[in-house]
Amino acid sequence: MRTVHSVKDLRAQVKAWRQKGERVALVPTMGNLHEGHLTLVREAKLQADRVVVSIFVNPLQFGAGEDLSSYPRTPEEDSAALFEEGVDLLFMPGVEVLYPHGMDGHTKVEVPGISELYCGQTRPGHFRGVATVVCKLLNLVQPDIACFGMKDYQQLAVIRHMVDDLAMPVDIVGVPTVRADSGLALSSRNGYLTAEELAKAPALYATLEGLGASLADGNKDFAALVAQGREKLEQAGLKPDYLHILNADSLAPADTQDQTLVILVAAYLGKARLIDNLLVDLQA
Ligand code: PAF
Repeated sequence: MRTVHSVKDLRAQVKAWRQKGERVALVPTMGNLHEGHLTLVREAKLQADRVVVSIFVNPLQFGAGEDLSSYPRTPEEDSAALFEEGVDLLFMPGVEVLYPHGMDGHTKVEVPGISELYCGQTRPGHFRGVATVVCKLLNLVQPDIACFGMKDYQQLAVIRHMVDDLAMPVDIVGVPTVRADSGLALSSRNGYLTAEELAKAPALYATLEGLGASLADGNKDFAALVAQGREKLEQAGLKPDYLHILNADSLAPADTQDQTLVILVAAYLGKARLIDNLLVDLQA
């Protein structure tokens, strides 16, 4: 595995593969890699000849007072794990490489509507930062495919919307969430949880599963289900930020005619803000 830090080296390597007709996949990450990220890498390897992983803790997607400075950074461990997985190229740019005119002077990518809802409401500007960096990484690597985790369901929707609107020639692959045995979705931010909080955290997915079962049983009183879910979270010691039952494609509030729903949840637990989701196919 080669590690590069500059746009010049990244582009030269990808160009050499392209000249041989090889198919390239990109897995964008912010590092502190866990099994969830490695699952993205494995999917990328299945679908392409060459896999590029980027590690960049993107300041543009963190709001004032958020965890940019404390976000876990583990470059040596990450590099060793990617080497083990047979990744071809690790791209680790500095902030000045991706934002050469500074962040304020950099062009921004705005995906209207969907970016302002749910996580976007709690974290204003977050999805502008995500869309901008992902657009830039896709332009730098120009991969055939790019893999993202479905745990960040709204992020995936924002990225698909951007790629579609800007006619970017890349297939966006959503990879199912990897969970601990307790059901807790793997996330770098789980590292903020104390042992006591870790014991409470599985209530997030248990709540989603309970609501999913009620929906599958034909319960369409979405408002009552949301109220029940919020209560269950509070009883377990989590502080709900939001809980919504939505149309899985549009992310608009669910309609009783919708067949594919997604339940999106965000909740605070100690220093962590955890997000999760559950897809519910009523036709299944
Ligand atoms: O999901 C993440 O880790 C980040 O939001 C991403 C997609 C790498 C952009 O910084």
